[in-house]
Amino acid sequence: MSDFLLFLGRFHVVVLHLPIGMVLLTAIVHWLSRSTRYTSLLQVLPVLWGCTAISALLTVALGLLHFGESGFSGPSANAHRLWGIGFALAAQLVWFLSVFNVVLYQRWGGLLCAALLTAVTITGHYGGNLTHGPTYLVEYAPQSIRQFAGLDERRAPVRDLAMADPWHDVIAPMLQSRCGSCHNPDKQRGQLDLSSLDALLVGGESGAVVLSGNAEGSDLYKRVTLPESHENFMPAEGKTPLTIEQVELLGWWINAGLPADTSVSALSVDEETAALLSIELGLSPAPLMVVAENYEALPEELIRQMVASGWLVRPLSRESNGLSVSINAVGQPASRDMLALLNQASASMVELNLASAGLNDELLAVITDMPVLETLNLGNNGITDAGLDTLAGFENLQVLNLYGNSAITAAGLEKLTSLESLSTIYLWGTSISEEALPSLKASMPGIKVYGQALPR
Ligand code: HEC
Repeated sequence: MSDFLLFLGRFHVVVLHLPIGMVLLTAIVHWLSRSTRYTSLLQVLPVLWGCTAISALLTVALGLLHFGESGFSGPSANAHRLWGIGFALAAQLVWFLSVFNVVLYQRWGGLLCAALLTAVTITGHYGGNLTHGPTYLVEYAPQSIRQFAGLDERRAPVRDLAMADPWHDVIAPMLQSRCGSCHNPDKQRGQLDLSSLDALLVGGESGAVVLSGNAEGSDLYKRVTLPESHENFMPAEGKTPLTIEQVELLGWWINAGLPADTSVSALSVDEETAALLSIELGLSPAPLMVVAENYEALPEELIRQMVASGWLVRPLSRESNGLSVSINAVGQPASRDMLALLNQASASMVELNLASAGLNDELLAVITDMPVLETLNLGNNGITDAGLDTLAGFENLQVLNLYGNSAITAAGLEKLTSLESLSTIYLWGTSISEEALPSLKASMPGIKVYGQALPR
């Protein structure tokens, strides 16, 4: 269907309020007109029915265009269409009666009003299901009503992390609230329903969306980790995205083998994941330990010199002498002299951001030894595999970002395997192809590797 028709179709959700309002107004006027005081209102009834009938037809026409967007399938979609068309046809009939067969209309008018009001309510209800998912209305209803609507018992809020069910208490509610409006049984965008584990495992248009044990290879995970501006990013259409913590948890859940109908205590959950789970469940997390490691205090004079030469120098915390260093004017190239100053500060440098600093292998080699450095960002420079030799002595390095160094290959990364603290590498936009990632990851156990090659 052409974009223009789809554009028109979206006005369905605006225009649909017209026939609802009209039929209600007409019914009220109808009932008023039966009292002797308001008999004069009888004359406007055909006009009101006309407005109802025409607005209903218009709404149905736009609705059919709106259905042209894929993903409207399932019982509510069919029922909504059927009741909507039925309502519009019935409205034409009543209009006709009110104009030409006044006798029949006067006898049955009240009943017809009631019938049309009922039809419009049912249509609206199924339409609401389409927009919000079929369980929206009764989600917070008392259990008896939920049961009547075919819903499971509402899960009791989790009070103890150990008892939480990873799927039912954590992942399912998260997907329901952030993805449910487009991926439910009635509205399966991309032919994907995320409302139950069974449906999730069925996958979507392009097959499975989760590979148990392999988050990075799972479309579901990939799509929430893309840059938000990417056309495949989920949730689509600028809907509120998952938080960073939720994305982490989703990755954890997939890597853990999609655990469901079990409890956190039955799984071996590391401390970091436990903290994330607590946040997601709204439990007060065990207080995070603030480790104020004591680094060497640098001489004031050195810090002044660094700032004067173009570095931004910040303390990591009030309790520690550890420093976070980056280039003050982002994008400004770092000179040899600037880089040499870093060596003098190496005893306290915990974070170093050299993104877009115009580095090549030779300049990087000016930095000799960083014994306490934990986080190094080398993004968007011209570093090659040879340059990575420089990092060999960075024995405390945990997080390394090599984003956008297009000459880096898997051979270069081999050199990093000697860095025992290394836990995370970012590789977007390097020469490492997406096909090579799995084997690369296998060769670096214990290291989280994020990345994909830039499209060529
Ligand atoms: C505003 C609507 C909307 C929301 C909200 C939304 N999606 Fe989607 N989703 C779509 C559309 C449209 C498609 C099909 C087009 C495409 O493949 O990009 C799709 C496709 C997908 C697919 C690919 C299915 C396949 O097999 O092709 C996945 C996976 C997916 N969505 C995951 C998610 C996740 C996870 C969330 C919640 C974080 C989410 N979506 C929220 C609209 C949405």
